[in-house]
Amino acid sequence: MLVGRPFWLSLVVCLVIETSGAKPVPDPCAIIAGKTWVLPKEARDCMSSFPLHESIRTNIIEVVNKTLEFHTSVNYQIQAPPPFDADVHEDLVADLARISKENYSSEFDFHIDIYRSFKRVNDGHCGVYNYCFDSLYVTYIPLPLVLVTTSDGSQHVRVAPEAFEVASNEFKDNIEFWQQALPGHLKGQLASLSGAKVLRINGMDPFVAVNENAKTTGSYQAFGTRQNSFFSSYRRGATGWQYSMGNFALQAHPLVDDVELTLQRVNSSVIDTFKLPYRSRFGSASKNFTDAASYRANNCVATNRTNGIDLYGDTAGVQTYQQSPPPIAYFQQQPSVDHEDARKQPINVILDGLPLTDIDLPEQLQPNIPALNQSYSVAQFYMLKDNVTGVLALGSFSAKNFTAFGISLLSGLQELKTAGAERLIVDVTNNGGGYICIAHWLHRIIIGPKKSTEPQAGLDSTTRAGPVARLIVESIVSGGDPEELLSYNPIQWTNASHHPFPAASEWLKPVDVTINGRRLGQECQPFKWDPPEDGLFEPRNILIVSNGRCASSCSLFSITMSKSDGVRTVVVGGKTTFGKIIATSRLKNHPLAPPDFLTNSLQGITWRLGYGIDDPDTPEEWQSHTADINFPLNRDIVNNPVAIWETLARQEFRESEIFRMQTEPIYI
Ligand SMILES: *[C@@H]1O[C@H](CO)[C@@H](O)[C@H](O)[C@H]1NC(C)=O
Ligand SMILES: *[C@@H]1O[C@H](CO)[C@@H](O)[C@H](O)[C@H]1NC(C)=O
Ligand SMILES: *[C@@H]1O[C@H](CO)[C@@H](O)[C@H](O)[C@H]1NC(C)=O
Ligand SMILES: *[C@@H]1O[C@H](CO)[C@@H](O)[C@H](O)[C@H]1NC(C)=O
Ligand SMILES: *[C@@H]1O[C@H](CO)[C@@H](O)[C@H](O)[C@H]1NC(C)=O
Ligand SMILES: *[C@@H]1O[C@H](CO)[C@@H](O)[C@H](O)[C@H]1NC(C)=O
Ligand SMILES: *[C@@H]1O[C@H](CO)[C@@H](O)[C@H](O)[C@H]1NC(C)=O
Ligand SMILES: *[C@@H]1O[C@H](CO)[C@@H](O)[C@H](O)[C@H]1NC(C)=O
Ligand SMILES: *[C@@H]1O[C@H](CO)[C@@H](O)[C@H](O)[C@H]1NC(C)=O
Repeated sequence: MLVGRPFWLSLVVCLVIETSGAKPVPDPCAIIAGKTWVLPKEARDCMSSFPLHESIRTNIIEVVNKTLEFHTSVNYQIQAPPPFDADVHEDLVADLARISKENYSSEFDFHIDIYRSFKRVNDGHCGVYNYCFDSLYVTYIPLPLVLVTTSDGSQHVRVAPEAFEVASNEFKDNIEFWQQALPGHLKGQLASLSGAKVLRINGMDPFVAVNENAKTTGSYQAFGTRQNSFFSSYRRGATGWQYSMGNFALQAHPLVDDVELTLQRVNSSVIDTFKLPYRSRFGSASKNFTDAASYRANNCVATNRTNGIDLYGDTAGVQTYQQSPPPIAYFQQQPSVDHEDARKQPINVILDGLPLTDIDLPEQLQPNIPALNQSYSVAQFYMLKDNVTGVLALGSFSAKNFTAFGISLLSGLQELKTAGAERLIVDVTNNGGGYICIAHWLHRIIIGPKKSTEPQAGLDSTTRAGPVARLIVESIVSGGDPEELLSYNPIQWTNASHHPFPAASEWLKPVDVTINGRRLGQECQPFKWDPPEDGLFEPRNILIVSNGRCASSCSLFSITMSKSDGVRTVVVGGKTTFGKIIATSRLKNHPLAPPDFLTNSLQGITWRLGYGIDDPDTPEEWQSHTADINFPLNRDIVNNPVAIWETLARQEFRESEIFRMQTEPIYI
C-alpha cells in the first residue's frame, strides 16, 4: 500500500501538467453563446466548426434529389429558351451529383453550396433551407442603400436618406459599435452619412456589387428585379408599414466581415473612403445554446415537425402538429396565417433564407392620409388628395383570416368608388404571394365577369406526374384518404374545363406527355363570396405598381390583369406539404419516396406550373411579361409610398387630368 501512494501521486501531477500544457482548443460556439451581437467571423467560426459527416451528406442529397421529382420546372429550367437562358439554365441534378463528391471543410460550407445552387435557379419556390445555418445569425451594416435618378436622367446609388433613423431605432444596442468603428472625422458621425452618394464599393463601381448580389440572391427570374434586391424598400405588413433593408445592409449568413465605401456626404465636397464592419445578430427563430453541443442539439437536428406526420395517426399528435406553425412558416414571405384556414386554401408563396422584415417604416415615410375603415391587415385602402385616385396597398395575398380578407377587398374597393374614385393604383411592392383564390377573387371583382375572369381568373396549370406522385394517387383512390385530407386527392382538383375529378379517378395518369400530368383548371369558383355584377374599375384607369418584387400569387394576379385585360404595370424599383402527404399515404418506405431529413432542413419546390396567356401551351414562366412603365425614383420620393402614388397619379393618369382641368372654371 505504501508503495502505491507515490505512484498515484505522480500520475495525478502528471495529468495536471498534461492538461494545462496542451491548451485545449476553445469551443468557438461557447465563445459567442448568449451574446446578441457578434462579429461575422465569430459566428462563422462556430457554424463552421462541424465537419460534414457522410451520413448527413447522403441523407440531404437523397431527400433533395427525390423531392425534386415533384418540382414541375426542372426540365424547363435547364432548357429555358432565349432570352430566359441567361437567367436560368441551372441543372440541379448535375449540381447534386457534383456536391455529392466535393470535399467540404465543414457542414456549413456544404450547406452554402446547396443553398446557392438552388438560388441560381432564380425561382423563389425552389430552395433548400436549414435552421442550423440560415438566419441563425443575421448580418447587418447600418447603411441601407437606394437607387435614385436625377432630373438629367443619370442614376446613382445613395445611402438611404432614412438610413440613420432606421438603424438607430432597430439597432439601439449596437449603434455605438458602428459610431466608434467609423474612422477619423467621421467617428460618431454615422447620421451624417444618410443620403450620401456612394461612389465606390470595395474600390469598384457600385453596380459591380449590385450585379454580384443579383447572381446569388435568387428568387426572381428577371435580372433587374434581382438588382433591386440590393436596395431598401417598403412593404405593407399585417400590422403596419415595414422597411426592408435590402441585401447590401442585411444578409442571411455571416460571410462578409466589412466593406470599404467611398462616399460624398450631402452638402459636402469631400470624398471619404473608409471601412465599416458588418455585425451579426442572433436570429429571432434561433434557439439559445451554451456550447457547440447544445447549438447542434437545439438548432440542427430534425424536429418532430420537419418530416411531416401521418394525418391518420394518433389523434392527439395530429392536433398538436396542426396547431403549431409549420417549420416552413419562418421562411415563407408572407405574414402568419391561421393554420386551420391555410390548410384548406391553396397557397402560392415564395421562400427565402431571410424571414420577412419586422422593421418599421420610419414615421415620416408612412402614409399620412387615413386608411379607409374597410382596410384589413395587409390590404389598406386610401383616397389620394385629388379625390379621384383610390389606392389599394397590398403587401401580401395572405392574411390571418381568409374570410375577413376576401370581404375586406370587395368592401374597400366599393368604398373607394362611393367616395368618388375613378381610378385605382394597386401597390404590390414586395408582395411574395399567398392565397391563389384571393388573387383570382381580386382580379374578378376589379374587372367584372368576362372571358378572362369566369370561370378561370388565373392560369390553367399542370403538375408533375412522377412515379411516387402516381403511387400516392393510387393509394388514395384505393381508400387511403377517407377524410379527403390530402392534396393528391382527385376531388381537390378540376380538369381543363373546370369540372372536379371524380373521387376514384387516377387523375395523374398522363394523357400524352410523360413528365407532366393533365392540364388542370381552377378550384376557386364559385367564390366563397358573391362578386358584384359589374367590374369596379376600367382597365385603362388601373395601374399595378411594384418594385418588381411581386411573386407567386402576386405575379399570377398582375400578369393576368395585364395580359388578359390590358391593365398597365409599373415597376418602381407552393406551399409544400410533401412530408405530410407522403407520411399519410404510407409510402414513406418506397424506394423512390424521399426519406426523412435528419437535419433541421426544409425544401421548397414548384408543384403546379401555370400555362401562358399568349401561348397557352407553354409555361407563362417562359413568356415575356415586361412592365409597361419604368418609373424612376428621385431622392424626394424614394421609399415614400404616398409620394410615389401621387406622382404616378399625376403623370400616368395625365389624360384624364387634362380633361378635368378643362372642365374646371378659370378665374382671371
Ligand atoms: C438523383 O436521382 C436520379 C434518379 O432520379 C439518379 O439518377 C441520380 O444519380 C441521383 N443523384 C444523386 C446525386 O444521387
Ligand atoms: C477529396 O479529397 C480526397 C482525399 O483527400 C481526394 O482523393 C479527392 O480527389 C478530393 N475530391 C475533390 C473533388 O477534390
Ligand atoms: C444641405 O443644404 C441644404 C441647403 O442649404 C439644406 O437645406 C439641407 O438641410 C442640407 N442637408 C444636410 C443633410 O445637411
Ligand atoms: C435565450 O436567451 C435570451 C438572452 O440570453 C433570453 O432573453 C431568452 O429568454 C432565452 N430564451 C429561452 C427560450 O431560453
Ligand atoms: C413535438 O415536440 C415538442 C417539443 O419537443 C413537443 O412539445 C410536442 O408534443 C411534440 N409533438 C408531437 C406530435 O410529438
Ligand atoms: C371609421 O372608423 C372610425 C373609428 O373607428 C370612426 O370614427 C368613423 O366614423 C368611421 N368612418 C366611417 C366612414 O365609417
Ligand atoms: C377633396 O375632398 C375634400 C373633402 O371633401 C376637399 O376638402 C378637397 O378640397 C378636395 N380636393 C380636391 C383636389 O378636389
Ligand atoms: C374570420 O372573419 C370572419 C368574417 O369577419 C369571422 O366571421 C370569423 O369569426 C373570423 N374567424 C376567426 C378565426 O377569427
Ligand atoms: C371534364 O369533366 C367533365 C365532366 O366529367 C367532362 O364533361 C369534360 O369533358 C372534362 N373536360 C376535359 C377537358 O377533359
